[in-house]
Amino acid sequence: MDKNLQIRLKNTFNQLAQIYTNKFTSDKTEQEKLLSLIKEWQLQKGDRVLEVGGGTGDLTPFLLQKIGAEGSLVFLDIAPKMFAVAKNKLKSFDNISFILQDIHFYSDDELFDKIIIFNTFPHFIDKRMALKNCFKLLKPKGKLIICHNESRSSICLCHHKKQVDNKIAEFPDDKTVAMLLIDLNFKIDLFENNEGYDYYLLVATKP
Ligand SMILES: C[S@@+](CC[C@H](N)C(=O)[O-])C[C@H]1O[C@@H](n2cnc3c(N)ncnc32)[C@H](O)[C@@H]1O
Repeated sequence: MDKNLQIRLKNTFNQLAQIYTNKFTSDKTEQEKLLSLIKEWQLQKGDRVLEVGGGTGDLTPFLLQKIGAEGSLVFLDIAPKMFAVAKNKLKSFDNISFILQDIHFYSDDELFDKIIIFNTFPHFIDKRMALKNCFKLLKPKGKLIICHNESRSSICLCHHKKQVDNKIAEFPDDKTVAMLLIDLNFKIDLFENNEGYDYYLLVATKP
């Protein structure tokens, strides 16, 4: 994997850390949309969850609420400044482990029930490598969730307007993503890239 791109990605998010907030934190309609997306993630009380690219931790309380005190969550992010904001925001929860790592290289002794990749997938520099690692990290019957509270075209347009380099924000088309997952032996349960309601939701299972 290209280490220079990894550094650029890290720097990009470090610069955003003080201003990064997700729109569902302040917009009621967006929060309702998020809640209906989360319903499809099939989170259960007691789940062991890996949140990849947790950013400033806006989504995390919603995940913790679903898995309950008996569940546990590993919060993974590559950018130290995003990570620091999240760590501070989430300090009252004791069932989170914070790990400053890249999903391409993360390993763990224990497997996960669910891996959540929310608003983060386009930023993986080597998507095959990252998703292959996710497959390895999941329990059999474990679920991979790739989700955005916007559609693919809204995200691509936003990256284009902000002139984000495609090398650190490439979002493959739906067919390419599906083929990649199938090739890695995932079973796709649900795949909706909804332009009208503006969301992207993919749920896949490790057989
Ligand atoms: C657009 S933000 C989304 C943050 C959060 N999921 C949200 O929706 O509020 C993407 C986050 O993913 C992190 N990230 C990108 N690539 C990563 C990787 N390979 N491994 C771990 N984290 C990564 C970035 O540092 C950033 O904090």
